[in-house]
Parts: sequence; structure tokens; C-alpha cells
Amino acid sequence: MSYTYFATCPFGLENILEQELINLEIDRTSLNKGGVAFECSDEKVVQAILHLKTASRILHKMLSSEIKNFEDVYQASLNFPWHKIFHNQDSFKVKTVVSQKDLKLNEDWKNSFLFNQKFKDGYVDRFRKETKIRPSVDKQNPKINFHLFIENSYLTVYVDLCGKPLSDRGYRGKNFVAPLRENLAAGIVKTMNINFQEETFLEAMCGSGTVLIEAIYEALGIPASFAYWKQLNLGHRLWNFQQTEAFKQRFTLKRLPIDSVVDKIQKNTIKFYGNDWEKRALELTEQNLRFIGIDKCVHLSRQNATQLKPPADKSTIFINPPYAKRLGEEQGLEKLYYDFGENLKHEFKNSRAFILTGNFSLLKKISLRTSKKHILFNGPIECRLAEYQLY
Ligand SMILES: C[S@@+](CC[C@H](N)C(=O)[O-])C[C@H]1O[C@@H](n2cnc3c(N)ncnc32)[C@H](O)[C@@H]1O
Repeated sequence: MSYTYFATCPFGLENILEQELINLEIDRTSLNKGGVAFECSDEKVVQAILHLKTASRILHKMLSSEIKNFEDVYQASLNFPWHKIFHNQDSFKVKTVVSQKDLKLNEDWKNSFLFNQKFKDGYVDRFRKETKIRPSVDKQNPKINFHLFIENSYLTVYVDLCGKPLSDRGYRGKNFVAPLRENLAAGIVKTMNINFQEETFLEAMCGSGTVLIEAIYEALGIPASFAYWKQLNLGHRLWNFQQTEAFKQRFTLKRLPIDSVVDKIQKNTIKFYGNDWEKRALELTEQNLRFIGIDKCVHLSRQNATQLKPPADKSTIFINPPYAKRLGEEQGLEKLYYDFGENLKHEFKNSRAFILTGNFSLLKKISLRTSKKHILFNGPIECRLAEYQLY
């Protein structure tokens, strides 16, 4: 089966993304590395753009063509009626990814710039022929983003439907050190599978508070688009987004979840805690919470995470500690990991703990038995989300 759409995501979250699509009643899906291909109506794809939490981008397939050389890319582009879909005033940008297998078979395909160039030439030549005007490239702020994939000697051209990546939720102002992308944080929350009715959630080294906020989004059913709707690239010509039912519903979603958040917190059915030992991190977390309107729903504290006590009988505690690949030096961090593990062992009985790190030798300093290890990628860094059941 051929699929019209492709949702990209961080490596390791593909299964969760597919489940999100299925939850939106999009069930014609196909798992791939780094994303999920799917088929659905225009209406549903708008829902996907507004609701998917783990997706980075949603791409729409424009054309697919067998290629033997760069010239074939030019011809495929030239033969496509771009002028019927896009406008000659719209600036554009092209990016190409060539599969490892194709790179091995074709040495000269390593220079992906040449694919960009040939596609661009065909695109502007077709526009010039049809409209006498050639659209221009804008590498910084293009109206249209083309993504070219080369696999098994097939060129597939996608256009990005999202404008900014969907991971840019819009609630984060300035970042503290090494923040996680919001869609990775959402994937971590889904992987933790927290029972929000029974468990209290604590992010013990919260930085800018990304996982904390995504946990609140998850617990209260706040849609991913809640804070970013203004940034969507709605000018795309394939659909008139404003006419779709999903877009109209967007405006009714605007206030609804906040009232229920406040209500639930006041009734004490859900509790969220954030902690960091840096004042600036807490200020930024608070700003982010305030931007969404949920600052009063979270208890923030400034303590050493290795000395924390559980906020409730049954808690889920998460940390994304510094790891030597990106911050600090390994030696000093060994003690941090060890002390954190010891504190969990002695204080956090009847709870669950999750640690996300890209440094596997530091993880071994935690002298607790992992009940599960999930493989996730933070950008290019292979990480483990280690899970501990504490008794
Ligand atoms: C990698 S950052 C966390 C980023 C966060 N997940 C986000 O998305 O913004 C690590 C955080 O751990 C905090 N930290 C390091 N050691 C700590 C300790 N012993 N107690 C409390 N916080 C600590 C740092 O201040 C920093 O904010």
C-alpha cells in the first residue's frame, strides 16, 4: 500500500506515535525508522497536526519516481505540475536524505546538495514555463519546505505541513541547560505510563520543566497544539485549514482544559511537583507554567535532588540528570548518580523512578535493579530510560 503522509519522530518513539495515530482513528499506518507512514482524510490530517504529541513533523507525499542519476531528479521535478498547488511568490527550501543502502551503491550520491540543486532547477523551470516567474529559495524562513528521500533508487518528495516543528509547543521561553525537546518529553511521559489518579508525579531535576509540563498535558488531556496554534503554517495551499471541523474545534479547546486543571488540582486528585537546585531553572519552569496558565497547579522546590523525600505515598519520580556527553565531567557526576540511587532506595518505597541518561557507565552507579530499560534517542545521542520499582 502506498501512504500519503509521513509523521516523523525521535528514534525510539515510533510505536508510541503509531498508537497516537490509532487513537485518532487513523488506522492505516506503517511503522518506519524515525516515523510512521499513514493514510487518512484531509480532516484527519489536521487533527493529527493539532493533537500528535510525539511527532516532529507531518509530511505530505507529492511525488515518487525511480531515479538512476541526478538528471532523473531534474526530470521528475520538471514533470510535476507544481504551479497548480503552490504560488510562484512562495519561497522554498529543499533538504535531501539518502538511505545508507543507496549511498553504498552510489558513491556520488553522498553529496545530497546535488539532489537539492536538481530538484530546485526542475521546480523553478516548471514555474517559469507555466507562469513566467521563478520562485526563490529562502534557507532561513521558507514558506514551503520540501523533504526529499532517496531509498532503493526511488525519489520521494514530501512537503512539510507544519511550518515549525510540532515539538515547538510554544510554551517554552528561554531555556535552561540542555532542555529536552517537547515531543521527546511527551514520549517519555507516555512510556512511564503514569496512573495519574493514584500516583504523584515529581520531576526532581526539572531544568525548564519540559517533562513536568508534558506530564500535565497528558494527565489532563491538553492537546499538543494548546500553546502553539498561532505558529502553525496555515498558509499552506493544499488545504484550507480554517474550513476544517478540526480547526474550528481548536478555538473551543482554548480555555477548556485550564478550568479542568485548576478544578482537579483544587480537589487534590492530581499532584505535580518540580524540583531543581538552580534558582534560574525554577524561574524558567515557573514562567513556562504561567504561560500555559497552570503555575498554581504545581509545587516547585529548590533542593538537592539526592536528598528529596517523596511528596506522597505513591509517586513516580523522573530525572534527566547531566551526563558527561553534554554537560559537566564524568567524575563529579558519579557521586551524583550514586547518591541519587541511595536516596531512592531509602526514601522512595512504594514508588517508581525513571532516569534518562546518555551515559551508560554513570547509570551503573545507581545500585538498584532496573525493572526495564527503554532505548530512546535525544537528537543523535542514544539514551536509556531506566525504570526502577521501589519497595
Ligand atoms: C539536563 S538538565 C534537565 C533538563 C530538563 N529535562 C528540561 O527538559 O529542561 C539537568 C538539570 O539537573 C539539575 N541538577 C543537577 N544536579 C542536581 C541536583 N543534585 N539537585 C537538583 N538539581 C540538579 C540542573 O540544574 C539542570 O537543570
